[in-house]
Amino acid sequence: MSATKELVKVMKLEDLKPLIGKEVQVRDETIALFRLSNGEVRAVSNRCPHKNGPLAEGIVSGEYVFCPLHDWKISLTTGEVQKPDDGCIATYETAVIDGYVYVGGLKHHEKHDLNR
Ligand code: FES
Repeated sequence: MSATKELVKVMKLEDLKPLIGKEVQVRDETIALFRLSNGEVRAVSNRCPHKNGPLAEGIVSGEYVFCPLHDWKISLTTGEVQKPDDGCIATYETAVIDGYVYVGGLKHHEKHDLNR
């Protein structure tokens, strides 16, 4: 079963302002949605792996968000926390169809699958 078959419509693209995160509830997940300056949409877990900071309220720069609580820098593409900090958050599939943003299943990245 492919995750992309389970896309959930979450909001109008025009309501997702560039570089301003938006918290949305998709099933049981609290997700932070972002529209990057290049127009791409990203969806990640809204909880910082440090102390659960609400990432949707963070500052977006390029493909990264800076946690609003203690400024950890997290990739919106892979979910990886950037050095010198360490950790990883869940990232989700996204799609824009007919002006609406859809969020799909969990994406898998190498770092999530490596157990070391
Ligand atoms: S809670 Fe995100 S950096 Fe501390």
